[in-house]
Amino acid sequence: MIRLGVNIDHVATVRQARRAHEPDPVAAAILATLGGADGITVHLREDRRHIQDRDVFRLRDTVTTRLNLEMAAAEEILAIAVQVRPDEATLVPEKRQELTTEGGLDLLAHTAGLRAAIERLHDAGVAVSLFIDPDAAQIEAAHELQADAIELQTASYSEARGEAAIAREWEKLRVATAHARRLGLHVHMGHGLNYTNVQRIVRIPGVEELNIGHSIVSRAVLVGMERAVREMKSVIHDHAFTDLRPTAGA
Ligand code: PXP
Repeated sequence: MIRLGVNIDHVATVRQARRAHEPDPVAAAILATLGGADGITVHLREDRRHIQDRDVFRLRDTVTTRLNLEMAAAEEILAIAVQVRPDEATLVPEKRQELTTEGGLDLLAHTAGLRAAIERLHDAGVAVSLFIDPDAAQIEAAHELQADAIELQTASYSEARGEAAIAREWEKLRVATAHARRLGLHVHMGHGLNYTNVQRIVRIPGVEELNIGHSIVSRAVLVGMERAVREMKSVIHDHAFTDLRPTAGA
């Protein structure tokens, strides 16, 4: 069975929009797990735009499946990761202005820093996955760096339009997965996957895990909306002041 890692970053995005206490990513993680999530994924960004340090520590204490921490190989975040000890760390590139992670890591350009980060995480007992494009040279570099897994970025596939372009991107993912599996790497995928485009992805032999966030949180907002409004109506109704005479001083 292919594992589903549910990325709950955007639950924290809604909370941070008001710098409030709700919605709580820990509550979202519990409900996602009840829904069958095989793991919980969060990205502790250097700009802390959604998930906060405290969330990661609380999730470590409460997630009963697997906690996957997406992170840049930056000193500050590495220090937190070795304290938290997630089950897995997924190293991703990070840019301040991006809306979300854009493209995979360039393992050939950042070999020394990544090697040091991977060693540090391994010493802390954390498995390491590298978020890369479906490219043979990157896969070989991941193997050489002794990563445990790769996460193939599916953004190019998700954004492809038209059958020929989609089929081309899918084929790149298929070939990359076979190559990585031959080298003994575990293969995960993620980015831009939704209820439609995932159907074709799961036909690729060798994929072990998918990390999906935005489309699941988006759907949760909609399918949960009716109940949320019904509950608010019922609270208002049940607690309303029913005496319609003007109140003193009104
Ligand atoms: N995998 C990685 C490495 C990511 O950076 C992200 C986005 O945070 C995801 C998966 C989830 O992507 P999406 O939110 O588009 O499902």
